[in-house]
Formats: sequence, structure tokens, C-alpha cells
Amino acid sequence: MGKSYYISTFGCQMNVHESEKLAGLLSVRGYFEALSPEKADVIVFNTCCIRETAETRIAGRLGNLKRIKEENPRVILAVCGCMTQKKGGAEALIKRFPYIDIIFGTHNLTQFGAYLDAYEGKKTVEIWEKETPGEEDGTAVKRAGTVNAWVNIMYGCNNFCSYCIVPYVRGRERSRKKADILADMRGLLDEGYKEITLLGQNVNSYGEPGGFSGLLADAAALSGTFKLKFMTSHPKDLTEDVVRVMAMSDKLAAHIHLPVQSGSDRVLSLMNRKYTGKKYLETIDMIRKYLPNAGLSSDVMVGFPTETEADFLDTVRLVETVRFSNLFTFIYSRRSGTPAADMAQIPYKVKQERIARLIARQKEIGPALAGEAVGRVFTVLCEEIHGGVARGKTQCEREMTFPADGVKPGDFVRVRALRHKNTGLIGELV
Ligand code: 5AD
Ligand code: SF4
Repeated sequence: MGKSYYISTFGCQMNVHESEKLAGLLSVRGYFEALSPEKADVIVFNTCCIRETAETRIAGRLGNLKRIKEENPRVILAVCGCMTQKKGGAEALIKRFPYIDIIFGTHNLTQFGAYLDAYEGKKTVEIWEKETPGEEDGTAVKRAGTVNAWVNIMYGCNNFCSYCIVPYVRGRERSRKKADILADMRGLLDEGYKEITLLGQNVNSYGEPGGFSGLLADAAALSGTFKLKFMTSHPKDLTEDVVRVMAMSDKLAAHIHLPVQSGSDRVLSLMNRKYTGKKYLETIDMIRKYLPNAGLSSDVMVGFPTETEADFLDTVRLVETVRFSNLFTFIYSRRSGTPAADMAQIPYKVKQERIARLIARQKEIGPALAGEAVGRVFTVLCEEIHGGVARGKTQCEREMTFPADGVKPGDFVRVRALRHKNTGLIGELV
């Protein structure tokens, strides 16, 4: 029997995809995936530090590994990702969890195989300070899905929103070569993948010639039937030419995730977001001019330092005005080393009370929008089937379930929405 691995992934799609690269590194070394950490020879924790809640959850899970390590001292525990790349992060982890064997950062992800090959029972700690352009190109990837696949188009972020730790743990923006991205896509389509999501912290600042709209147009021009998505967009950088390309090709999902964070101009300015509420709404109008039925989702944060009740109400008003089909709501979390950490903080109780009100409002808006979609017929990509029920998403990224009758994962089908459940639709094949 060969050796086995177990990977626990925390955080965003970027991490989920990077865990597929870690799985690739392990697979080429003959490791197979274990069903549980107890059964694995190597356990990898790919961590996130975007909010304190994430770090607390990960610390709890790392604490549980102590028992596994005691029962099986030969298991190798590796920790990587944003928590280790954070200033002082690796040191803090070693101090608190001395039984971790290998620690590496976000910039030396692809070195993991080499660390494992060289590992002889002595703790390995290696964090690179600087990003290495092109580092991850050509990495073996072991994908978790058979219908959807991720492709990085860029790494890092230059925006330095004042609350955000990402630029510190992911480095400056670097874009992959367009030819490499298109070659990856071609390979995935030839393998039978039907949905490709282009990934970057801020895809709209894709820096190769032709910019993001050029890349999207070339990607959509690849032959085959497939669905093309991207994330994440920054409102200050989402330009009309991108939306125009989206409107021209039916391969592109009619959906944009456009994090607004706040509806208050004063707070947006403190956040260093470089747009106003009015400008954001103008961008939404522009999107709807080209794509009247576009699905729109967003991230919103409450309790940013100094946020007043009036600021918060501006956010609620913006959310009511746009009517997002999906809203991801967060309580601001103080991240040391970011400018907002030194601003006047809001009591936790106030933040909790505000997020509850915001969520309550969205709970009315989301299902109401789904209700408005009932009766319409949608093109749906079937992503999976369980117990005769197919699940997939419409072109505007709304969840749809329907009886699977003869449908396979990866099929594009026409489905009439019969009713809705929360924000999702329940339909029948037409
Ligand atoms: N506290 C709370 N939420 C945060 N986000 C980023 N940094 C923080 C923080 N310090 C949220 C933003 C971002 C999403 C990915 O996470 O809303 O869009
Ligand atoms: Fe963080 Fe802002 Fe960069 Fe997004 S754009 S990763 S919120 S700094």
C-alpha cells in the first residue's frame, strides 16, 4: 500500500484551488487521498487568516491533531496558507502547536513536495518573504470536481483596503501569461470540464496585453460548450468593456460578484475602496444595461471602525436598492498590521446587532427575487445528482434542483422554475 494524505482547507476559492495543487504534488509522489485524518500518513492544513473567527476555528482543529499525533507519532503534520505567511504567524503556530512538523507559506506552496522528500523527522519551517512570479505554473493539479474547474489568472493584490490582510499574505499582483491560461483552459475542456472559473483577488486588473476583457473574449472564443465564470471583481476596476464581452458571449455566466463592503461614502473612504455609493450604483446600472437579468452578489462588512448608525443605514439602503441575489455578510474583524486596526473600534454587541438587522433584510430580498424567477425557463448546467435529484445553476448563478430524468452531471439542460425555496429554484425539465 502506498502512503496517504488528508488535506483540510479553510478560506476562499483561492485556497480550495491551491489545495488541489497540494494534492497534485502528493499524487505525483504516489500518495493517495485518505478518508479521514486518522488514516493519513500526511495531514496538511491549508489555512486562512481573513477574520479572527477563521483563525480561532483553525486553532481548534490544530488542537485536535495533538491526539492524532500522540496515537500515531509517525504522521507528518504540515501547515501552510495565509496564517503561516502572516507576520509572526509561523512562530505563533509553532509555539502553540509544537507537534507541527512542516510549516511553509503562500509563496513557496510548490516547494511542499521537496520539503516532504527531504523530511527526516526534524521540524521544517520555511516562509518566503517575496512572491515568485510564475512559481505555480506547470504544477500538477488534482482536481476535486469533474464538472467545474478553477484556473488562476493572477495572484496577489495591490489594493490595500484598510481592513484587509490579503495584500500582506499574498504579495503584489502578478498576472499569468494569457497563452498559459488559455492552454490550461483548452486542456480542461478537452478533459470534459464544463465550467471554468477564472480566479484572482482582483481579476479586473489583469495586467497582460488586452487586459481582462481581452482575456475573457479569447477564453470565450475557445471551442466547445462550456460556462465561463470569474472572481473576484473590484468595483473601482470593473469596466464597461468587460460587461460588453459578457453580453456578447452566452458562454459567460450572467453573474458578477461585486463586493461593495459599505454604502457609506465616509466609511468607503476610510476603507480605501476608491469609489462612492453613487459610483457603485452607477456600475450596477451599467451592468443591467447590458445584462438586464444578471445575477449580482456582494460582500458587505458591518462594524468597520467608527461606523455610525447612519453609516450602517446607508449600507442597508444600498442593499435594498441593488437587491443582490446573494449577499455575504461579515462582522469587521481587527487584523493587526492593517491601518484599520489602529482606528476607533466598535463594540462587538453593536456589530452583532447590525449584522442581524442586515441579514434579516436580505432574507426578505433574496427569496423575493427567487420568487420573481418562478415560471421562467433557464439554461442550467447540471453539477451533480443525488438520489434522482439534479442540482445545478442557471446562467445567472441561481441554484436549481430538478428531477434528473436522463440527465448527467455536465449536461446543459432547459429547466422551468416551478417554485422557489429560499433563494434557490425547484424546476422541471422542458
Ligand atoms: N473583517 C471582516 N471581513 C473582512 N473581509 C476582508 N477583510 C475582513 C476583515 N478584516 C471580507 C470582505 C471581503 C471578503 C472576502 O472578506 O468583505 O470582500
Ligand atoms: Fe483585500 Fe481589498 Fe485586495 Fe480584496 S481588493 S483582497 S478586500 S485588499
